Amino acid sequence: MSKRIAAVSGGLGGLGTAICLHLARAGRTVIALDLPRPERLDAFRRETAGLDVHVMPLDVTDFAACGEAVRAIEAAHGALDILVNAAGITRDVTLRKMEPAQWDAVLEVNLGGVFNLCRHAVEGMAARGFGRIVNISSVNGQTGQFGQTNYAAAKAGMHGFTMALAREVARKGVTVNSVSPGYCETAMVAAIPDAVRAKIVEQVPVGRLGRPEEIARAVAFLADDDAGFITGANLPVNGGLFMSF
Ligand code: CAA
Repeated sequence: MSKRIAAVSGGLGGLGTAICLHLARAGRTVIALDLPRPERLDAFRRETAGLDVHVMPLDVTDFAACGEAVRAIEAAHGALDILVNAAGITRDVTLRKMEPAQWDAVLEVNLGGVFNLCRHAVEGMAARGFGRIVNISSVNGQTGQFGQTNYAAAKAGMHGFTMALAREVARKGVTVNSVSPGYCETAMVAAIPDAVRAKIVEQVPVGRLGRPEEIARAVAFLADDDAGFITGANLPVNGGLFMSF
């Protein structure tokens, strides 16, 4: 079997970097798709040195650019087997103060980006009879969160998207799942006011923030060749913050 090729949107971010590292260490060729982030690039290259990891600039809100990125990956590396949608932003503010631009930005990146990349990647996966799509949602898409009507709507929307697409491509060897991280050691969580974050951590049964590697491990599990009977599922990795069955 040839080496599996994986693309990770938001690949230079906190969770994205851990996902790139984990997939590459598991023997995948990995392409990190992200906005040009010169301040982050050197560190990313150091962290991934010696691994088969590549960086491709991409704005996931640009539908045409997503198509070009998928075509460029397939021309340079081969068929795209694994797509991880990890590009995500927050614009936390209560609804009463939320500007349309703050709503639009979060919906366009977090949910629109998933559509844009899946739309271009899924055709080839279905034609080849193999694909693994993993969408990074959030515990806050399951519970809602104060100040996050935009983010919670986008992240909950990813679950509906995941289940619907899973049904459409199940017979084609393509699985579509989501992972719902809880609060992790990332810049996004570090940006929450200290007092608010401390209160949240108090509510986590495990009693700490998650490590990005712990999310990456769940992603790699769902992206594995052997995970073909898991589709339309959501895997919570939240330290027990939200339990359901
Ligand atoms: N539940 C209920 N009430 C709350 C509350 C909460 N969680 N948080 C704040 N309030 C109350 C406050 O006590 C305050 O009440 P009073 O007016 O009576 O004093 C009122 O709501 C206003 O609170 P703030 O002063 O905090 O409001 P603000 O406008 O200054 O800030 C906010 C609002 C920006 C949303 C701020 O509360 C915040 O940053 N919250 C954190 C949101 C959060 O958890 N984001 C997650 C980011 S990480 C992530 O998203 C990753 C992931 O997937 C898990």
